[in-house]
Formats: sequence, C-alpha cells, structure tokens
Amino acid sequence: MPKLDIRLRTVAALINPHGDSSVVHGDIGSDHGGLLVSLLRSKRIAKGIAVENKSQPYENSCFALKGLSADVRFGDGLAVIKPGELTSLSICGMGAESIVKILEAFSDRVPDHVVLQPNRQHELVRGWGLRNGFHLNEEQIAWGHWPYAVISLQRATDATHNASTPNDPAYADVDLDAALLFGPLILKRWEPKFAARLHEEQAYLQGLTKLDGDYEHRLHQIQKVLASHAVR
Ligand SMILES: C[S@@+](CC[C@H](N)C(=O)[O-])C[C@H]1O[C@@H](n2cnc3c(N)ncnc32)[C@H](O)[C@@H]1O
Repeated sequence: MPKLDIRLRTVAALINPHGDSSVVHGDIGSDHGGLLVSLLRSKRIAKGIAVENKSQPYENSCFALKGLSADVRFGDGLAVIKPGELTSLSICGMGAESIVKILEAFSDRVPDHVVLQPNRQHELVRGWGLRNGFHLNEEQIAWGHWPYAVISLQRATDATHNASTPNDPAYADVDLDAALLFGPLILKRWEPKFAARLHEEQAYLQGLTKLDGDYEHRLHQIQKVLASHAVR
C-alpha cells in the first residue's frame, strides 16, 4: 500500500464514502498513481482509470498500477473517457484554471461525484460547481506543506443553477464572495486552526507595501470574515 500524504489521504477519504461496491473512479493527472493504487488496494473502488498527458507521469502510472484493476490512458483530461464510464472523478495537484478547463472541455463526461484539490484559486473550482449544478457535499483543509483545500461536489438533482443566485444550500447564510474564496462549510465550521491561519494571512498581507487586485480582494474578504467573528 503506497503511503499517501495528508493531502491525498484527505482526497481518498472523500471518494466513495458510502462504500458502493461497483465504483469506477477516474483520476486525471494521476502521475505517480498513488491515489488509485491506494483506493484499489483498500477495495474502496472496483476499477480505476488513470489519465496522463505527459510521457514520464504516464509511465509512472503504468508502473504503479500494473496488476491492479485499472486502465492507464494517455490523453488530455476527459478526452479519453467515454460518457457514462465513470462513477466518480478526482483532479488533484493542479491549478484551479487547469482543473476547470478539464471539466469544461467535456462536460458530458463529468460523473455525478467529483473530488477536486486545486493548488490555488479555489474560488474558480467552487464557481464551476455553482455554475454547473454541482452541490458542495464536503470540503476539508488538508494541513500539509500548505493548507490544501479538498472539495467534494455532487451533481444536484434540481436543474436551476446560476452563479449569482446559487441554489446550493451550502452557501445559505454565508457571504458569497468569502465563501467562494475560503469555502462555505469551512467558514461555518470555523476551526481554530483555520481562524489562526486567517489571522496570519491578514498580518502578512497588511505588511506588504503594495497589493495587486487579487491580494487586495483577499485581504478585504479576510478582514470582513474576521470582523464578523469578532462581534459574535
Ligand atoms: C502536479 S501533478 C499532480 C499529481 C497527482 N494528481 C497528485 O495530486 O499528487 C499534475 C499531473 O497532471 C498531469 N496533467 C496536467 N494536465 C493534464 C491533462 N489535461 N490531462 C491529463 N493529465 C494532465 C501532469 O502531467 C502531471 O503529472
């Protein structure tokens, strides 16, 4: 069993949480293949499909997954997945722009459950969920080298969805801008480690001599969130 780091352990724990025995799980950008190896060896999934678009990571996945119930495919994201082939999907360790690009390129091939771990710009992934009728069913911070957000989304059964008036109940009673940045469930849980991290980031951003638009927006959201908790 490969030893997964906390980031991928957090992802693995959100895949097939109800223990369905027939899950076919796709992992786009599988590289070392560790996530699928762990899911298969622990019998968490019935079959894995690893996708890589670069030679060495593709070879890594082939090597790691040899002898297991897995296909390793060389190609660009969901281009090498058939519609309806997957029960669930993960895309981890990439920037959110790349993740959203992969999801949007073949939206008909995105299964009902996706677990995403963007390295930065988490708001783009949450925005994709809101625009596409996927509801946030869980999100966690994996406190590894960085605080990694791991976002689990389930396709909603109701059809109406709109980013400016989201119908995802996870976003009820939270400020939308702050929730997109930090996660509505994470904000509602308000764990001490998360609050401490926001205080640290606020101090860091306030110490910078010049803030560009994104950082300015982030600082404003942090100040707003911390102020709302200070008055409780
Ligand atoms: C930083 S690694 C992350 C590996 C692993 N998912 C993890 O989280 O540890 C990102 C991998 O995604 C692959 N990748 C990036 N864009 C891709 C795409 N459009 N289709 C398939 N693989 C892609 C890269 O080749 C690379 O191996």
